[in-house]
This record gives sequence, C-alpha cells and structure tokens, in this order.
Amino acid sequence: MIVRRIVILNPKGGSGKTTIATNLAAYYANEGRLSALMDYDSQGSSTRWLSKRPRSAAQIHGIDTGENRAGLTRSFVMRVPPGIERVIVDTPAAFQKHELVEFTRNADKIVIPVLASDIDIHAAARTIADLLLVAKISRHENRLAVVANRVKSNTIVFRSLMRFLESLEIPVAAVLRDTQNYIRTAERGLGLHELPSARVAKDLIQWKRLVDWLERHEKVSQYPRTKIPDPVSDYSSSQSLPNAVVKLPWSEGPLESSL
Ligand SMILES: Nc1ncnc2c1ncn2[C@@H]1O[C@H](COP(=O)(O)OP(=O)(O)OP(=O)(O)O)[C@@H](O)[C@H]1O
Ligand SMILES: [Mg+2]
Repeated sequence: MIVRRIVILNPKGGSGKTTIATNLAAYYANEGRLSALMDYDSQGSSTRWLSKRPRSAAQIHGIDTGENRAGLTRSFVMRVPPGIERVIVDTPAAFQKHELVEFTRNADKIVIPVLASDIDIHAAARTIADLLLVAKISRHENRLAVVANRVKSNTIVFRSLMRFLESLEIPVAAVLRDTQNYIRTAERGLGLHELPSARVAKDLIQWKRLVDWLERHEKVSQYPRTKIPDPVSDYSSSQSLPNAVVKLPWSEGPLESSL
C-alpha cells in the first residue's frame, strides 16, 4: 500500500492551513482511505478539530507532535500506523528554514494556501522562493501547488494574486471561496464533504480540482526558470493593471480584466 504524504504549509498565519488539512483528512476518510492528520503546530488546532469530531464520522487517525519537532523525518515514519494511505500534515505559522527542509523532505505533495492580499502575496513569494531554493523542490516534480483561499472572485487583488502565481509557473490547484461553511464545519469537527451536498455544491467543485491534482502522479516537463518577482512592486493591486487576459486553469475561458 502506498502512503501519500500531503504537507500543507505557509508560515503566514491564518492562511488556511488547518482548514485545508482538516477538510482534506475528512475528504479522504469519507472516500474510504485510511487517513492520518499530523499536527505539527503547538497551537494544536487540527488536534482540537479532531477532538470535536463526532464518533459517527469517518475515522481519522490523529498524530499530535506537540512542541517536539525534532527529528521530523524520523518521527514521521515512526508515528504513522500501518495501513494508513494518506497522511495530511498541518504545519505551524512561523518556523525555521531548516524545518522547511524537514517538513517537505518526504512530501509527495506540498500545498501552499495563499490569501489574496498584498501582504499575503508578498509572504507567499518568500515561501515559494525558499521551497525552490532552500528545500530544493523542483517545479518539474509537480509536488508543489498553491491554493488561493478565501477568494472573493473578480476582485483586483485576486487578479493580482493570479497574475503573480502565473508568473511563478507554480500550479494553482484550487481556488476556494470565502464561505461560512468552513467556519461552521470546523466548529463541529467536520469537513465540507460531510455537509448536505446542496449547501456545499459550489465548494465541492473547487475541492475536486484540488484532490485531482493531489492524486495526480505524473511529473511535468521542466519549465524555463524565471526570476521570482516581487509581488508588491511588480504586481501591486494599487497599480493600474493593463488590459489583460488571464488564463485561469480552473475557469472555462479566460478572465477578462475589466480595469
Ligand atoms: N475559505 C474560507 N472561507 C471562510 N473562512 C475561512 C476559509 N479558510 C479559512 N477560514 C477561516 O480563517 C481562519 C484561519 O484559518 P486557519 O486556521 O485554517 O489558518 P491557518 O493557516 O491554519 O492559521 P495558523 O497559521 O494560525 O495555524 C479560521 O477561522 C478559518 O475558519
Ligand atoms: Mg493552523
């Protein structure tokens, strides 16, 4: 049985790491995959979510590393019980660069949730640069993707985020809208896939794109290397953007900038 490790990472606080990690664990559990949720955050948000989970819900194995982040790679292997097929790793806000290497070393997929704001775009640029240069994640391994989170679509800052991501040639695995559904399910230890489907129909379409990417194994051909742009000076939302057509990977057609 192949264990796939999916690491949700962004040192920027509040970007949606725990939300994506818990929802993913719930998704896989409902798909009948034995899943573990590994909480590397000393705040223990994923662990708390798991503790609220109803007994009747599909089972998820919790692995709480607490404060002890030493020897991550070793503990990663040691702590995953036999039979587990998907390990979802929730990581803390703010960590050392050497921990970035540890978090990502054995990861099959690395998901970076990014909020559409200038500050978050700037922080994401740094994280992506560290992943490429420090953790030596290569684009053509197809291990790395961004999830644009809490998106109010068609806003200027959203377009600015998408343009920035396009320039990095990092895939955008999903765009998740801003909805109370995440907040309500989190309170109950549930995932979106465990709500009545009529209520979350729009969200499930967005999630399908993410899980499709996560379950894709093929590598992509090598992209030409580009410089990591400065998102604020190069893509600031306050700048007036030229009339542009942004080809979005999840949309039916190009999105016309109406600026
Ligand atoms: N798509 C969304 N729509 C609405 N609310 C969301 C969405 N994603 C996350 N949130 C809310 O935003 C807040 C922060 O999300 P979350 O805790 O997942 O971020 P985090 O990156 O894990 O934060 P930290 O860095 O503190 O661990 C939470 O209250 C969560 O419910
Ligand atoms: Mg968190």
